[in-house]
Amino acid sequence: MNLSIDIKPISASKIDTVDFDNLAFGSTFTDHMFVCDYRNGQWETPQIIPYAPMEMSPAASVLHYGQAVFEGMKAFKDDNGSVWLFRPEQNAKRINASAERLAIPQFPEDQFLEGLKALISLDKAWVKSGAGKSLYVRPFVFASEAGVQASAASEYRFMIICAPVASYYGGDVRVKIADHYSRAPQGGTGYAKAAGNYGGQFYPTQLAKNEGFQQVIWTDAATHEFIEEAGTMNLFFRIGDTLITAPTSDSILDGVTRKSVLSLAEHLGIKTEVRTLRVAELIEASTSGALLEIFGSGTAVVIQPIIGFGYKGKTYETPLSENSYALMLKQQLMDIQYNKAADPFNWRCKVCD
Ligand code: COI
Repeated sequence: MNLSIDIKPISASKIDTVDFDNLAFGSTFTDHMFVCDYRNGQWETPQIIPYAPMEMSPAASVLHYGQAVFEGMKAFKDDNGSVWLFRPEQNAKRINASAERLAIPQFPEDQFLEGLKALISLDKAWVKSGAGKSLYVRPFVFASEAGVQASAASEYRFMIICAPVASYYGGDVRVKIADHYSRAPQGGTGYAKAAGNYGGQFYPTQLAKNEGFQQVIWTDAATHEFIEEAGTMNLFFRIGDTLITAPTSDSILDGVTRKSVLSLAEHLGIKTEVRTLRVAELIEASTSGALLEIFGSGTAVVIQPIIGFGYKGKTYETPLSENSYALMLKQQLMDIQYNKAADPFNWRCKVCD
């Protein structure tokens, strides 16, 4: 691949038309986007061009077979105006792990990181400082080849778009534990950030929403006995003073926030266990009072307390206490992300001043 990026900047920014205090998550996008096409067995020269709708064949393979993967990352502005990414090398690796599972060609990691930095630097005015404000960065790759033969395409488009955001969920979050629908079978695509993993959740999540839940906690597809993840979040359970999360597997996403929470918790002296957790154990812990909190972790949500769950028609409460692990870990994590605290793990990566 040609190492240089062909940059065509916008003639006038639309930033003045945006109300940064009232942003719906991921619905307003910055001035530019990164685009790189794969043809004839190689990635072509990448471009950064004005953000705009693009032409695509109605036969583009992605529209028929969903051959697409994506990433979610955030850029943060500190009090001095410098912009930082959080562990971007993890996303560079994971998009290729996802791509491999979907038979999509690998995108060079150094190009991924260079493209990110160039795009975010150009749109740095869109990264706002202040509590919870950040730039959500969405890299993705899709099969662009025109043709409805059901096989891996030979043409792809890699893109990065960026959206200024505040928080993901507006209010309290309650979840429903799945006992019928499944997110990911063993041997499937569950560990990958495949577009279809998310699309397949929308209908069961709509049903759960009708019952007053915001999300579904997915259980293993074979037995529905073991807790997996929540689709936009990995899950943590505090039983007594121990923080428990499921081991990653081929049906659970290897979340960057998940692994950061585990490292931070261990650093703070919190006992952690990475192990399978049965729904039955969770119900028992809730009934006995040993279950003290549940929270989700993810790039979009950061750390999201879950204040109750439903299972087979019964509901269980897990109210948030002031000295919760969730709030403590969220604060520590955000202090590192916003360059307000030391970064003992070397997670921050400077984009520009
Ligand atoms: C993220 O946290 O970046 C996710 O992947 C969730 C997204 C689907 C909103």
